[in-house]
Amino acid sequence: MGKTYKIAVIPGDGTGPEVIAEGVKVLRAAAAKYGFRLDLTYYDFGGERYKRTGETLPDSAIEELKQHDAIYLGAIGHPDVKPGILEKGILLKLRFAFDQYINLRPVKLYPGVETPLKDKGPEDIDFVVVRENTEGLYAGAGGVLRRGTPDEVAVQESINTRKGVERCIRYAFELTRKRNKTKKLTLCGKTNVLTYAFDLWERTFYEVAREYPDIKTDYAHVDATCMWMVKNPEWFDVIVTDNMFGDIITDLGAMIQGGMGIAAGGNINPEGVSMFEPIGGSAPKYTGLNVINPLAAIMAGQMMLDILGEQEAAAAVEKAVMKVVAEKLKSLAAGKMGYTTTEVGDMVASFV
Ligand code: IPM
Ligand code: MN
Repeated sequence: MGKTYKIAVIPGDGTGPEVIAEGVKVLRAAAAKYGFRLDLTYYDFGGERYKRTGETLPDSAIEELKQHDAIYLGAIGHPDVKPGILEKGILLKLRFAFDQYINLRPVKLYPGVETPLKDKGPEDIDFVVVRENTEGLYAGAGGVLRRGTPDEVAVQESINTRKGVERCIRYAFELTRKRNKTKKLTLCGKTNVLTYAFDLWERTFYEVAREYPDIKTDYAHVDATCMWMVKNPEWFDVIVTDNMFGDIITDLGAMIQGGMGIAAGGNINPEGVSMFEPIGGSAPKYTGLNVINPLAAIMAGQMMLDILGEQEAAAAVEKAVMKVVAEKLKSLAAGKMGYTTTEVGDMVASFV
């Protein structure tokens, strides 16, 4: 018998529980076929629990979650809760508490999936964004003075440490080597305006690059990166960038790979507990209708298998998803798939 993985499951808000249920279905199918076991513990952190108890993520939960091999998250965000409370109190708190310093977001167009980019196909859209995940504008540095008065001052600072920048850049170089595609790593920044933060990024990037003579390096400002992602996505192999820019360009990335229905991400601590999630939100208007696309959650589970070391099972799940999108689904959009959420999960599970 193979290994047993202890997974903490946080289905979360809105359609989170529905898509996670399908992800778990597929993970169980993969476990049965590839000979490993899953020991799942469910946690109800999210908007409903917050409304009931006023609690987002207690410190005791962090201690409990630490006892797991990985965290599988649905979605956090509730229409009745003020923006920021759940995001900072749960999602960002988890990313920071577990020092998940990489947010790994593949942008891959599968055959048969529609992209809004004219004349671009799967051979053109296949890259990975390595987003720094614990610093930058997300660090929470700054403050407000004289709030609500005409003299209000709001400061929100981007924190960039040599250690944080360097470990992210190193991860990106290693990944580029491991992918072994065009072996090109692009730094996405804004060296022409953010002359302190991205000076640190740029110097670190070219210093580390000396240790990777087999990797081609490139640089693009973030605004130009957006332009090239639309015009020439085939230029990219791996992109490394800071937290805020990574957040923005990966929504663009999700759109060119077929939308939020398929885009998944991993919050990675290579030495610790990582967390996997579909990158779209809780989509409250589709809650309970059995119409949401579970493929993003399934692909998040696929990334989790890969990082846990179950490469064969991960490859099988990806193949099953590719078969479903190529041969079955009419569209990846919620309500337009031609199948229900549960039917899509059933099909993927049966093809694993
Ligand atoms: C994401 C989300 C989060 C982020 C929000 C919900 C805090 O947009 O995972 O990209 O900004 O990182
Ligand atoms: Mn985002």
